[in-house]
Amino acid sequence: MAERNDQQSSSQSGLLFGDLLNDETSAHVESVEVPADDSLAKILADVKGSPVCGACRAGMPVAFGEGPAQSDLMVIGEGPGIDDIQSEMPFQGPAGMLLTRMLAAINLARSECYLCNVIKCVPAGERKFSAEEIEDCRPFLLRQILAVNPRVIIALGALAAQTLLRSKKTISDLRGQVFTLRLNNREIPVVPTFNPAYLLRVAEKKREAWEDLKLVRELLKS
Ligand code: URA
Repeated sequence: MAERNDQQSSSQSGLLFGDLLNDETSAHVESVEVPADDSLAKILADVKGSPVCGACRAGMPVAFGEGPAQSDLMVIGEGPGIDDIQSEMPFQGPAGMLLTRMLAAINLARSECYLCNVIKCVPAGERKFSAEEIEDCRPFLLRQILAVNPRVIIALGALAAQTLLRSKKTISDLRGQVFTLRLNNREIPVVPTFNPAYLLRVAEKKREAWEDLKLVRELLKS
């Protein structure tokens, strides 16, 4: 999926993020409208009832998120894949197993992290998400971040990192550094790295992913 989205992002994000690019700085500032008493349950209800998104049509499986309602580490992937449909949970199957091992390598149990994706639903067939679908889903993700209130975010793959940071750089260019997301009144470090689904195919990139995970470990210590 990461590779698939690398390809789509270079053409789509230029279109979508044209006047918002922020590629010369390490901070991205933005605000999102949050309903009173917002909660993960409320956001999920809004996702399911949302008429705006082209993909999340009524009755479609929705892999919204997994983990404690508040967590120090929020792991944001791209979108649910074929392995995630039945359980409606993110990061099942081999990519999920690798993610569990990646977290364990920095002494984190998967169960203590909050896992979700930019795209929540599972559209029929494996297909690219359109720029509009990504943009429609984005406010839900931003509300989810505010609800979970993480100290650190890992963005897994190009779509996750580019969507969060409003960047059109490749994941290879974005990884290896810490960005700051200033969202409403919060300031959250974001560490982009490769998606485990991509690492399963391109094992030599695991070395760089390990460097990124060490950044996460340091941030969580501070
Ligand atoms: N499964 C997910 O839930 N997200 C990804 O980014 C890849 C696989």
